[in-house]
Amino acid sequence: MRIVNVSLGQRSYTIKIGGGLLAQLGRDCARVNLGNRCVIITDTNVGRLVAKPAFDTLVRAGFSPSLIVVPAGETAKSLQSVQTCYNQLAEHRLERKSFIVALGGGVVGDLAGFVAATYLRGLAFVQVPTTLLAQVDSSVGGKVGVNLKAGKNLVGAFYQPRLVLCDLDTMRTLPEREFRAGLAEVIKYGIIYDARLFARLERDLPKLLQRDAGTLAAVVARCCEIKAEVVAQDETEGGLRAILNFGHTIGHGLEAISHYGRFLHGEAISIGQVVAARLSAATTGLPSRDAERIYNLFTRAGLPTHVKLNPAQRRRLFAAMQLDKKVSNGELRFVLAERIGKIVWGQKVSSGLIEQALNPQPSTPD
Ligand code: NAD
Ligand code: GLY
Repeated sequence: MRIVNVSLGQRSYTIKIGGGLLAQLGRDCARVNLGNRCVIITDTNVGRLVAKPAFDTLVRAGFSPSLIVVPAGETAKSLQSVQTCYNQLAEHRLERKSFIVALGGGVVGDLAGFVAATYLRGLAFVQVPTTLLAQVDSSVGGKVGVNLKAGKNLVGAFYQPRLVLCDLDTMRTLPEREFRAGLAEVIKYGIIYDARLFARLERDLPKLLQRDAGTLAAVVARCCEIKAEVVAQDETEGGLRAILNFGHTIGHGLEAISHYGRFLHGEAISIGQVVAARLSAATTGLPSRDAERIYNLFTRAGLPTHVKLNPAQRRRLFAAMQLDKKVSNGELRFVLAERIGKIVWGQKVSSGLIEQALNPQPSTPD
Protein backbone atom coordinates (compact mmCIF):
# COMPACT_ATOMS: atom_id res chain seq x y z
CA MET A 1 0.00 0.00 0.00
CA ARG A 2 1.15 3.55 -0.73
CA ILE A 3 0.40 6.53 1.43
CA VAL A 4 0.28 10.19 0.45
CA ASN A 5 -0.28 12.93 3.01
CA VAL A 6 -2.12 16.14 2.30
CA SER A 7 -0.57 18.73 4.60
CA LEU A 8 -3.12 21.34 5.58
CA GLY A 9 -2.43 21.93 9.27
CA GLN A 10 -5.37 20.76 11.37
CA ARG A 11 -7.20 19.71 8.22
CA SER A 12 -4.40 17.37 7.07
CA TYR A 13 -5.37 13.88 5.96
CA THR A 14 -4.05 10.68 4.48
CA ILE A 15 -4.67 9.14 1.07
CA LYS A 16 -4.23 5.36 1.02
CA ILE A 17 -3.67 3.68 -2.34
CA GLY A 18 -3.68 -0.09 -2.83
CA GLY A 19 -5.74 -3.27 -3.17
CA GLY A 20 -8.26 -4.53 -0.61
CA LEU A 21 -8.76 -1.15 1.09
CA LEU A 22 -12.56 -1.18 0.97
CA ALA A 23 -12.60 -4.11 3.39
CA GLN A 24 -10.71 -1.94 5.90
CA LEU A 25 -12.97 1.09 5.58
CA GLY A 26 -14.51 0.60 9.04
CA ARG A 27 -11.12 0.20 10.74
CA ASP A 28 -9.73 3.26 9.00
CA CYS A 29 -12.77 5.36 9.92
CA ALA A 30 -12.36 4.29 13.54
CA ARG A 31 -8.73 5.47 13.46
CA VAL A 32 -9.68 9.01 12.44
CA ASN A 33 -12.06 9.32 15.35
CA LEU A 34 -15.49 9.75 13.75
CA GLY A 35 -18.94 9.64 15.40
CA ASN A 36 -21.03 6.47 15.50
CA ARG A 37 -23.76 7.21 12.98
CA CYS A 38 -22.90 7.54 9.30
CA VAL A 39 -24.43 7.52 5.84
CA ILE A 40 -22.88 6.04 2.74
CA ILE A 41 -23.79 8.09 -0.35
CA THR A 42 -23.32 6.13 -3.55
CA ASP A 43 -24.87 5.80 -7.01
CA THR A 44 -26.94 3.01 -8.54
CA ASN A 45 -24.00 1.35 -10.35
CA VAL A 46 -21.45 1.50 -7.56
CA GLY A 47 -24.08 0.70 -4.94
CA ARG A 48 -24.87 -2.56 -6.73
CA LEU A 49 -21.20 -3.52 -6.76
CA VAL A 50 -19.76 -2.44 -3.42
CA ALA A 51 -22.35 -0.89 -1.08
CA LYS A 52 -22.70 -4.17 0.84
CA PRO A 53 -19.00 -4.69 1.63
CA ALA A 54 -18.73 -1.00 2.58
CA PHE A 55 -21.78 -1.28 4.83
CA ASP A 56 -20.54 -4.52 6.43
CA THR A 57 -17.06 -3.23 7.25
CA LEU A 58 -18.58 -0.18 8.95
CA VAL A 59 -20.91 -2.37 11.02
CA ARG A 60 -18.00 -4.64 11.98
CA ALA A 61 -16.09 -1.59 13.22
CA GLY A 62 -19.01 -0.60 15.46
CA PHE A 63 -20.58 2.15 13.31
CA SER A 64 -24.31 2.45 12.49
CA PRO A 65 -24.45 3.10 8.74
CA SER A 66 -27.39 3.95 6.46
CA LEU A 67 -27.38 4.13 2.68
CA ILE A 68 -28.40 6.83 0.20
CA VAL A 69 -28.35 5.87 -3.48
CA VAL A 70 -28.48 8.56 -6.19
CA PRO A 71 -28.86 7.94 -9.94
CA ALA A 72 -25.59 7.27 -11.78
CA GLY A 73 -24.21 10.00 -14.03
CA GLU A 74 -23.39 13.69 -14.18
CA THR A 75 -27.00 14.87 -13.95
CA ALA A 76 -27.06 13.68 -10.32
CA LYS A 77 -24.64 16.49 -9.49
CA SER A 78 -27.51 18.91 -8.99
CA LEU A 79 -29.18 21.00 -6.30
CA GLN A 80 -32.15 18.65 -6.60
CA SER A 81 -29.97 15.70 -5.51
CA VAL A 82 -28.56 17.81 -2.69
CA GLN A 83 -32.10 18.41 -1.45
CA THR A 84 -32.93 14.70 -1.69
CA CYS A 85 -29.82 13.85 0.32
CA TYR A 86 -30.61 16.48 3.00
CA ASN A 87 -34.10 15.01 3.43
CA GLN A 88 -32.72 11.50 3.81
CA LEU A 89 -30.03 12.64 6.27
CA ALA A 90 -32.80 14.16 8.35
CA GLU A 91 -34.79 10.91 8.19
CA HIS A 92 -31.71 8.98 9.30
CA ARG A 93 -31.29 11.43 12.21
CA LEU A 94 -27.70 12.36 11.42
CA GLU A 95 -26.11 14.45 14.14
CA ARG A 96 -23.23 16.93 14.24
CA LYS A 97 -20.73 14.14 14.99
CA SER A 98 -22.05 11.78 12.32
CA PHE A 99 -20.15 11.40 9.07
CA ILE A 100 -20.69 10.73 5.38
CA VAL A 101 -18.87 8.21 3.21
CA ALA A 102 -18.71 9.18 -0.47
CA LEU A 103 -18.54 5.83 -2.28
CA GLY A 104 -18.25 6.28 -6.04
CA GLY A 105 -16.79 8.41 -8.79
CA GLY A 106 -16.33 12.15 -8.98
CA VAL A 107 -20.06 12.80 -9.22
CA VAL A 108 -20.78 11.07 -5.91
CA GLY A 109 -17.65 12.58 -4.31
CA ASP A 110 -18.51 16.16 -5.33
CA LEU A 111 -22.18 15.78 -4.39
CA ALA A 112 -21.64 13.94 -1.08
CA GLY A 113 -18.81 16.32 -0.16
CA PHE A 114 -21.07 19.33 -0.76
CA VAL A 115 -23.85 17.75 1.30
CA ALA A 116 -21.30 17.07 4.08
CA ALA A 117 -19.98 20.64 3.90
CA THR A 118 -23.44 22.14 4.35
CA TYR A 119 -25.69 19.78 6.36
CA LEU A 120 -25.79 20.89 10.00
CA ARG A 121 -23.09 23.42 8.95
CA GLY A 122 -20.62 20.64 8.28
CA LEU A 123 -20.25 16.90 8.88
CA ALA A 124 -17.01 14.96 8.55
CA PHE A 125 -16.67 12.98 5.33
CA VAL A 126 -14.55 10.20 3.93
CA GLN A 127 -13.83 9.71 0.24
CA VAL A 128 -13.80 6.19 -1.22
CA PRO A 129 -13.24 6.95 -4.92
CA THR A 130 -14.08 4.12 -7.32
CA THR A 131 -13.16 5.63 -10.72
CA LEU A 132 -9.65 6.37 -11.96
CA LEU A 133 -10.62 10.02 -12.34
CA ALA A 134 -11.84 10.24 -8.77
CA GLN A 135 -8.78 8.44 -7.38
CA VAL A 136 -6.27 10.73 -9.07
CA ASP A 137 -8.18 13.98 -8.83
CA SER A 138 -11.65 14.67 -7.51
CA SER A 139 -11.40 12.86 -4.15
CA VAL A 140 -8.32 14.88 -3.17
CA GLY A 141 -8.14 18.58 -2.39
CA GLY A 142 -11.59 19.41 -1.05
CA LYS A 143 -13.38 20.93 -4.02
CA VAL A 144 -16.99 19.86 -3.61
CA GLY A 145 -20.09 21.10 -5.36
CA VAL A 146 -22.79 20.69 -7.96
CA ASN A 147 -23.64 21.98 -11.43
CA LEU A 148 -26.23 24.51 -12.52
CA LYS A 149 -27.84 24.48 -15.96
CA ALA A 150 -25.70 27.54 -16.68
CA GLY A 151 -22.41 25.82 -15.96
CA LYS A 152 -20.26 23.22 -14.24
CA ASN A 153 -19.49 23.32 -10.52
CA LEU A 154 -20.97 26.80 -10.10
CA VAL A 155 -22.18 26.04 -6.56
CA GLY A 156 -19.70 24.57 -4.12
CA ALA A 157 -17.21 24.85 -1.32
CA PHE A 158 -13.69 23.98 -0.32
CA TYR A 159 -14.20 21.25 2.25
CA GLN A 160 -11.54 18.64 2.93
CA PRO A 161 -12.28 14.96 3.60
CA ARG A 162 -10.91 13.29 6.72
CA LEU A 163 -9.51 10.33 4.80
CA VAL A 164 -9.26 9.09 1.20
CA LEU A 165 -9.15 5.35 0.39
CA CYS A 166 -8.25 4.54 -3.22
CA ASP A 167 -8.98 0.83 -3.52
CA LEU A 168 -7.38 -0.20 -6.81
CA ASP A 169 -9.50 -3.39 -6.90
CA THR A 170 -12.48 -1.20 -7.80
CA MET A 171 -10.79 -0.48 -11.15
CA ARG A 172 -11.62 -4.04 -12.22
CA THR A 173 -15.29 -3.28 -12.82
CA LEU A 174 -14.85 0.22 -14.25
CA PRO A 175 -16.12 0.38 -17.86
CA GLU A 176 -13.39 0.94 -20.47
CA ARG A 177 -14.72 4.33 -21.55
CA GLU A 178 -14.71 5.57 -17.94
CA PHE A 179 -11.19 4.27 -17.37
CA ARG A 180 -9.91 6.10 -20.44
CA ALA A 181 -11.70 9.27 -19.33
CA GLY A 182 -9.73 9.06 -16.06
CA LEU A 183 -6.51 8.93 -18.07
CA ALA A 184 -7.24 12.49 -19.27
CA GLU A 185 -6.63 13.77 -15.71
CA VAL A 186 -3.59 11.48 -15.35
CA ILE A 187 -2.02 12.91 -18.52
CA LYS A 188 -2.85 16.40 -17.24
CA TYR A 189 -0.51 15.94 -14.26
CA GLY A 190 2.36 15.12 -16.62
CA ILE A 191 1.70 18.26 -18.67
CA ILE A 192 1.27 20.65 -15.77
CA TYR A 193 3.86 19.40 -13.30
CA ASP A 194 5.99 16.42 -14.13
CA ALA A 195 7.74 15.84 -17.47
CA ARG A 196 9.06 12.49 -16.16
CA LEU A 197 5.53 11.31 -15.44
CA PHE A 198 4.53 12.37 -18.96
CA ALA A 199 7.42 10.35 -20.45
CA ARG A 200 6.49 7.39 -18.24
CA LEU A 201 2.92 7.56 -19.54
CA GLU A 202 4.19 7.58 -23.12
CA ARG A 203 6.19 4.45 -22.31
CA ASP A 204 3.77 2.59 -20.02
CA LEU A 205 0.44 3.47 -21.62
CA PRO A 206 -0.16 -0.12 -22.86
CA LYS A 207 0.37 -1.51 -19.32
CA LEU A 208 -1.86 1.18 -17.89
CA LEU A 209 -4.59 0.39 -20.39
CA GLN A 210 -4.36 -3.26 -19.29
CA ARG A 211 -4.82 -1.96 -15.71
CA ASP A 212 -1.58 -3.60 -14.63
CA ALA A 213 -1.68 -3.40 -10.82
CA GLY A 214 1.90 -2.20 -10.26
CA THR A 215 1.76 0.48 -12.94
CA LEU A 216 -1.64 1.65 -11.76
CA ALA A 217 -0.49 1.90 -8.13
CA ALA A 218 2.61 3.91 -9.04
CA VAL A 219 0.75 6.26 -11.38
CA VAL A 220 -2.24 6.87 -9.07
CA ALA A 221 0.16 7.56 -6.18
CA ARG A 222 2.24 10.00 -8.25
CA CYS A 223 -0.88 11.90 -9.35
CA CYS A 224 -2.10 12.10 -5.73
CA GLU A 225 1.34 13.36 -4.64
CA ILE A 226 1.24 16.11 -7.23
CA LYS A 227 -2.28 17.13 -6.30
CA ALA A 228 -1.38 17.07 -2.59
CA GLU A 229 1.66 19.30 -3.21
CA VAL A 230 -0.36 21.83 -5.18
CA VAL A 231 -3.28 21.89 -2.73
CA ALA A 232 -0.95 22.21 0.28
CA GLN A 233 0.50 25.38 -1.28
CA ASP A 234 -2.78 26.91 -2.44
CA GLU A 235 -5.85 25.27 -0.95
CA THR A 236 -8.43 27.82 -2.14
CA GLU A 237 -7.02 28.59 -5.59
CA GLY A 238 -5.54 32.01 -5.01
CA GLY A 239 -2.99 31.24 -7.73
CA LEU A 240 -1.04 27.99 -8.24
CA ARG A 241 -4.01 25.65 -7.86
CA ALA A 242 -5.37 27.05 -11.13
CA ILE A 243 -2.84 24.84 -12.96
CA LEU A 244 -5.04 21.85 -12.13
CA ASN A 245 -7.58 23.37 -14.51
CA PHE A 246 -5.44 23.02 -17.63
CA GLY A 247 -7.87 22.32 -20.48
CA HIS A 248 -10.88 22.79 -18.21
CA THR A 249 -12.14 26.19 -19.46
CA ILE A 250 -12.99 24.71 -22.83
CA GLY A 251 -13.78 21.29 -21.36
CA HIS A 252 -16.33 22.62 -18.88
CA GLY A 253 -17.84 24.78 -21.63
CA LEU A 254 -18.26 21.72 -23.87
CA GLU A 255 -19.91 19.79 -21.05
CA ALA A 256 -22.32 22.65 -20.35
CA ILE A 257 -23.40 23.22 -23.96
CA SER A 258 -24.03 19.53 -24.45
CA HIS A 259 -26.09 19.44 -21.21
CA TYR A 260 -23.61 17.00 -19.62
CA GLY A 261 -24.85 14.32 -22.00
CA ARG A 262 -22.41 13.99 -24.89
CA PHE A 263 -18.95 13.92 -23.31
CA LEU A 264 -17.72 12.39 -20.09
CA HIS A 265 -15.79 14.97 -18.05
CA GLY A 266 -12.47 13.31 -18.95
CA GLU A 267 -13.36 13.35 -22.65
CA ALA A 268 -14.30 17.03 -22.59
CA ILE A 269 -11.05 18.00 -20.89
CA SER A 270 -9.09 15.82 -23.30
CA ILE A 271 -10.35 18.03 -26.13
CA GLY A 272 -9.79 21.08 -23.90
CA GLN A 273 -6.17 20.12 -23.21
CA VAL A 274 -5.36 19.57 -26.88
CA VAL A 275 -6.86 22.99 -27.67
CA ALA A 276 -4.96 24.54 -24.71
CA ALA A 277 -1.74 23.00 -26.05
CA ARG A 278 -2.38 24.69 -29.40
CA LEU A 279 -3.04 28.00 -27.65
CA SER A 280 0.17 27.45 -25.69
CA ALA A 281 2.16 26.87 -28.87
CA ALA A 282 0.77 30.14 -30.23
CA THR A 283 1.22 32.27 -27.11
CA THR A 284 3.45 30.88 -24.37
CA GLY A 285 6.15 29.24 -26.47
CA LEU A 286 5.19 25.58 -26.06
CA PRO A 287 7.49 23.85 -28.57
CA SER A 288 5.48 22.33 -31.44
CA ARG A 289 7.15 18.97 -30.67
CA ASP A 290 5.60 19.10 -27.16
CA ALA A 291 2.18 20.04 -28.60
CA GLU A 292 2.47 16.98 -30.87
CA ARG A 293 3.45 14.69 -27.98
CA ILE A 294 0.41 15.91 -26.04
CA TYR A 295 -1.90 15.32 -28.99
CA ASN A 296 -0.38 11.87 -29.62
CA LEU A 297 -0.72 10.71 -26.01
CA PHE A 298 -4.41 11.65 -25.82
CA THR A 299 -4.99 9.93 -29.16
CA ARG A 300 -3.19 6.76 -28.04
CA ALA A 301 -5.28 6.79 -24.85
CA GLY A 302 -8.35 6.56 -27.08
CA LEU A 303 -9.61 9.97 -26.03
CA PRO A 304 -11.31 12.54 -28.27
CA THR A 305 -9.09 15.45 -29.35
CA HIS A 306 -11.43 17.45 -31.54
CA VAL A 307 -15.02 18.60 -31.67
CA LYS A 308 -16.84 19.96 -34.71
CA LEU A 309 -19.02 22.90 -33.75
CA ASN A 310 -21.41 24.84 -35.95
CA PRO A 311 -21.49 28.65 -35.52
CA ALA A 312 -24.43 28.54 -33.09
CA GLN A 313 -22.70 25.91 -30.95
CA ARG A 314 -19.49 27.94 -31.00
CA ARG A 315 -21.39 31.01 -29.77
CA ARG A 316 -22.90 28.92 -26.97
CA LEU A 317 -19.47 27.60 -26.05
CA PHE A 318 -18.05 31.12 -25.74
CA ALA A 319 -21.03 32.16 -23.62
CA ALA A 320 -20.59 29.11 -21.36
CA MET A 321 -16.88 29.84 -21.00
CA GLN A 322 -17.72 33.33 -19.73
CA LEU A 323 -19.12 31.61 -16.61
CA ASP A 324 -15.78 29.89 -15.96
CA LYS A 325 -14.50 30.58 -12.45
CA LYS A 326 -11.21 31.87 -13.87
CA VAL A 327 -12.92 34.78 -15.68
CA SER A 328 -11.56 38.02 -14.24
CA ASN A 329 -13.11 41.44 -14.98
CA GLY A 330 -15.18 39.77 -17.67
CA GLU A 331 -12.06 38.42 -19.44
CA LEU A 332 -11.32 34.75 -20.00
CA ARG A 333 -8.05 33.61 -18.39
CA PHE A 334 -6.34 30.44 -19.54
CA VAL A 335 -3.90 28.01 -18.00
CA LEU A 336 -1.23 27.40 -20.64
CA ALA A 337 1.99 25.42 -20.98
CA GLU A 338 5.50 26.76 -21.66
CA ARG A 339 6.73 23.21 -22.07
CA ILE A 340 5.64 19.79 -20.85
CA GLY A 341 5.96 19.99 -17.05
CA LYS A 342 5.94 23.81 -16.87
CA ILE A 343 2.74 25.79 -16.77
CA VAL A 344 1.56 29.41 -16.43
CA TRP A 345 -1.88 30.65 -15.45
CA GLY A 346 -3.97 33.81 -15.80
CA GLN A 347 -3.19 34.12 -19.53
CA LYS A 348 -5.39 36.35 -21.68
CA VAL A 349 -6.11 34.90 -25.11
CA SER A 350 -8.04 36.60 -27.90
CA SER A 351 -11.31 35.08 -29.12
CA GLY A 352 -9.81 34.87 -32.62
CA LEU A 353 -7.01 32.64 -31.37
CA ILE A 354 -9.44 30.44 -29.46
CA GLU A 355 -11.53 30.07 -32.65
CA GLN A 356 -8.40 29.05 -34.58
CA ALA A 357 -7.30 26.57 -31.93
CA LEU A 358 -10.76 24.99 -31.85
CA ASN A 359 -10.75 24.68 -35.60
CA PRO A 360 -7.16 24.08 -36.73
CA GLN A 361 -6.04 23.98 -40.36
CA PRO A 362 -5.70 20.45 -41.76
CA SER A 363 -1.86 20.64 -41.68
CA THR A 364 -1.79 20.89 -37.85
CA PRO A 365 -2.69 17.96 -35.59
CA ASP A 366 -6.34 17.92 -34.59
P1 NAD B 1 -18.85 9.40 -12.35
O1 NAD B 1 -18.81 9.67 -10.92
O2 NAD B 1 -20.08 9.76 -13.11
O3 NAD B 1 -18.53 7.86 -12.59
C1 NAD B 1 -18.52 7.37 -13.88
C2 NAD B 1 -19.44 6.17 -14.09
O4 NAD B 1 -18.79 5.02 -13.62
C3 NAD B 1 -20.77 6.25 -13.35
O5 NAD B 1 -21.75 5.66 -14.18
C4 NAD B 1 -20.54 5.37 -12.14
O6 NAD B 1 -21.73 4.80 -11.67
C5 NAD B 1 -19.62 4.33 -12.68
N1 NAD B 1 -18.70 3.72 -11.73
C6 NAD B 1 -17.98 4.36 -10.78
N2 NAD B 1 -17.12 3.51 -10.21
C7 NAD B 1 -17.30 2.32 -10.79
C8 NAD B 1 -16.68 1.05 -10.63
N3 NAD B 1 -15.66 0.86 -9.81
N4 NAD B 1 -17.13 0.03 -11.40
C9 NAD B 1 -18.14 0.23 -12.31
N5 NAD B 1 -18.74 1.40 -12.52
C10 NAD B 1 -18.32 2.45 -11.77
O7 NAD B 1 -17.66 10.16 -13.12
P2 NAD B 1 -16.15 10.49 -12.76
O8 NAD B 1 -15.46 10.52 -14.05
O9 NAD B 1 -15.63 9.63 -11.68
O10 NAD B 1 -16.25 11.96 -12.16
C11 NAD B 1 -16.59 13.05 -12.97
C12 NAD B 1 -16.98 14.20 -12.09
O11 NAD B 1 -15.87 14.58 -11.27
C13 NAD B 1 -17.38 15.44 -12.85
O12 NAD B 1 -18.56 15.97 -12.32
C14 NAD B 1 -16.23 16.40 -12.62
O13 NAD B 1 -16.62 17.74 -12.68
C15 NAD B 1 -15.79 16.00 -11.25
N6 NAD B 1 -14.42 16.38 -10.92
C16 NAD B 1 -14.22 16.99 -9.72
C17 NAD B 1 -12.95 17.35 -9.34
C18 NAD B 1 -12.73 17.97 -7.98
O14 NAD B 1 -11.62 18.43 -7.71
N7 NAD B 1 -13.71 17.96 -7.12
C19 NAD B 1 -11.86 17.07 -10.18
C20 NAD B 1 -12.10 16.43 -11.39
C21 NAD B 1 -13.39 16.08 -11.74
N1 GLY C 1 -9.64 19.54 -10.20
C1 GLY C 1 -9.21 20.88 -9.97
C2 GLY C 1 -8.88 21.17 -8.55
O1 GLY C 1 -9.03 20.33 -7.69
O2 GLY C 1 -8.48 22.26 -8.24
